[in-house]
Amino acid sequence: MPAISFQQVSKTYASPRGAKNPPLTALDSVSFDIAQGEFFGLLGPNGAGKTTLISILAGLNRATGGKVLVHGHDVVGDYANARRQLGVVPQELVFDPFFNVREALRIQSGYFGVKNNDAWIDELLESLGLTDKANANMRQLSGGMKRRVLVAQALVHKPPVIVLDEPTAGVDVELRQTLWQFIAKLNKQGHTVLLTTHYLEEAEALCSRIAMLKQGRVVALDRTSELLKNASSNVLRFKVDSELPSALAQQARITGRIVQFPAHNAAEIERYLAAVREAGLTAEDVEIRKADLEDVFLDVMTNGYVANGVAV
Ligand SMILES: Nc1ncnc2c1ncn2[C@@H]1O[C@H](COP(=O)(O)OP(=O)(O)OP(=O)(O)O)[C@@H](O)[C@H]1O
Ligand SMILES: [Mg+2]
Repeated sequence: MPAISFQQVSKTYASPRGAKNPPLTALDSVSFDIAQGEFFGLLGPNGAGKTTLISILAGLNRATGGKVLVHGHDVVGDYANARRQLGVVPQELVFDPFFNVREALRIQSGYFGVKNNDAWIDELLESLGLTDKANANMRQLSGGMKRRVLVAQALVHKPPVIVLDEPTAGVDVELRQTLWQFIAKLNKQGHTVLLTTHYLEEAEALCSRIAMLKQGRVVALDRTSELLKNASSNVLRFKVDSELPSALAQQARITGRIVQFPAHNAAEIERYLAAVREAGLTAEDVEIRKADLEDVFLDVMTNGYVANGVAV
């Protein structure tokens, strides 16, 4: 039995009353399964539908069509059992300002009917670097610390399926590392993890399989290693001292002075460098590297994905 089964999930948001826009299709027949014990990544640009899909999974939002099962339990028809299997870290910082950190975690335990949970709560506080904030009121925490509490809250009932919607947004480098160590440990112990993130390095390092959403549709779904293997193999990277002509810039990934082109072969590399020279620019610090997940992501978003000769 899969940990999570999305079956032709669709979601249409009606436009606000009086507005002339047509209804918005946030999800268009999304279907895939996540096996128990997988570390699965759900990627996509802003507005692709990731949070909508997770909200439907968590029972916070209703699908317009299709269904979602968690360990076989329908998230609508058998909500209580489905929800019990899930620990969800929401993208939005939502918290009750009247409680301190430990109280918030005890209340969450009570909500799931877990008694005498203090040993696990202490472990969570320790693992998430919150021990010295245990008695602090939620209002007194910084944004990154509030996010840590949301992670702790999601894990308080030791759910078999952990869902993290951008858990590292606004979180400092040190906690990102401790958080990932902790989540990876839970995954090794058998917990299924579903993660969305815009940090593609994290997804590449952690996820064994990845789905990419674009405008509510799955446009790629494969093992991370396959996604990287099917990518345009190499990337030509160099620095320029002024702006590229727009025809060239459109094909590149540009970060400040750094320009990167997908390069399939030597002829292509030569062609790009010649075009730069013809534009009167000088390419400095030229290097060629293997494509990473960010290159794959940009390529899939522009050109779609073809695996084993089959377009997804
Ligand atoms: N309550 C709502 N009412 C109307 N439209 C909505 C609502 N929630 C989301 N949308 C729209 O649905 C689409 C998908 O939004 P969603 O939040 O699922 O994207 P996302 O992939 O999580 O993006 P991000 O990376 O920015 O978090 C967007 O176009 C968004 O504007
Ligand atoms: Mg989102």
